[in-house]
Amino acid sequence: MSQHALSTQPAKGRVLPLPPGPKGHFILGVMREFNRDTLGFIERCREFGDVVRTRFLYVHAYFLYNPDDIETLLTTNARIFRKAGSLRSPFFARLVGNGLVTSEGDFWRRQRRLAQPAFHRQRISSYGDVMVEYAIRQMSKWQSDQVLDVSREMNRLTLEIVVKTLFNADVSKDADHIGAVLSEVVKPFASQATLKWIADNRLPTPGHRRYFNLVSEIDRIVFRIIAERRASQADEGDLLSMLLEAQDEDGSHMTDSQLRDEVMTLFLAGHETTALALSWSWYLLATHPEAEQKFHEELETVLQGRPPKVEDLQRLTYTERIAKEALRLYPPAYAVGREALEDTEIGGFRVPKGSQVFAFQWVTQRDARYFENPDAFDPDRWLPERSERLPKYAYFPFGGGPRQCIGNYFAMMEIVLLLATIGQRFKFSLEPGHRVEVLPVLSLRPKNGIKVRAEVRYG
Ligand code: HEM
Repeated sequence: MSQHALSTQPAKGRVLPLPPGPKGHFILGVMREFNRDTLGFIERCREFGDVVRTRFLYVHAYFLYNPDDIETLLTTNARIFRKAGSLRSPFFARLVGNGLVTSEGDFWRRQRRLAQPAFHRQRISSYGDVMVEYAIRQMSKWQSDQVLDVSREMNRLTLEIVVKTLFNADVSKDADHIGAVLSEVVKPFASQATLKWIADNRLPTPGHRRYFNLVSEIDRIVFRIIAERRASQADEGDLLSMLLEAQDEDGSHMTDSQLRDEVMTLFLAGHETTALALSWSWYLLATHPEAEQKFHEELETVLQGRPPKVEDLQRLTYTERIAKEALRLYPPAYAVGREALEDTEIGGFRVPKGSQVFAFQWVTQRDARYFENPDAFDPDRWLPERSERLPKYAYFPFGGGPRQCIGNYFAMMEIVLLLATIGQRFKFSLEPGHRVEVLPVLSLRPKNGIKVRAEVRYG
């Protein structure tokens, strides 16, 4: 437990105060301010203190800005919290069901235990060649001087990779389709639309019908992958095989619909986040020529013109620092949320049972108390001597504690390998006149994509 958390234990019988925070409208609470400018709002709330209390309609929300309190939430006291209520919306549930991201308690523990071996470092390392091969295949479609939406390209690439590596299936012919469907699917979660979406909750509007139809379409693809594997009975040694073979103590196997939930969860959790980390990395490199130059120098020195391999990762240290810095400035998961299962205290304040508690990577990872010149893109801040004194939860792009991202090593390896493979051959410059804006939906996306001009470096 952190010092901070220890020092704020309440004396027996003492009633702790509720934290300060913006009150907002008497019915809506802060819904409008939040929907109008989500990132600005969560930044401004920090002015109230390290623990802030606010309200969305009838839901009380607590925002945590201090790394020690975030540690209390995600690690020290993790057992008295479950995932935030927003993850239990019927729309999200229809998409990911009871998969690893959303499940709770013993069911989650069992699924995590079953899935964990597929994410061990050694197994993941065997996927490195596929990552590089798929990147080379994708690049073969690009011409010099071509204008690309690099975020779309990265999305497609990471989708193909997650499907190939975890389910040993090739979906290149379906990838555009799945990509389009998944991006439609998250649209209703755009913060601007939240209120309308809650209000419309039970009405069969055309938007809802369209959403449910789209999810059914992805279902068909996923069930097809499962059926093909069941029919072939092949042990591909991938996650799907492991989940198919996994048995309960009573000898029962997972049903198709349980498998479908896990597959859908990994589709969603495993590709867009990584694609975003890559897209923001390219954006940052395109706008920081000095860092780009150092990046190219490292690629030349370490790789000398050949494609990267997993064994090169330990020498691609600057590339790794670029990835870490991109995840700091543009964390694809910009918030984590929990619901208190009992009355508790955080940072000296009372947090009643049922409260929704959030920590924001977007805000804390740009906090000047922990990061010098916090808005600057400075990959070298991740040199060991410059980062060793950072509080553990000042930087948490993959969350933390028992619910920490199961794919964090997979993601870091993929980001570094793809940056190296693509950066060897191409450099990107931003298209003049194209404004890159952040859109906090389920993840932190570029609102209108990232339009770049691709330039062949050599070859
Ligand atoms: C840059 C890429 C990624 C980022 C930023 C990211 C971020 C996160 C975060 C913050 C969480 C914790 C959420 C919470 O505590 O509420 C999480 C959980 C999760 N992530 Fe990732 N993730 C990434 C890549 C991946 C990949 C590649 C996979 C799988 C192939 C994956 C699968 C999952 C799963 C299954 C969970 C739920 C784990 C559990 O609760 O047991 N993620 N991710």
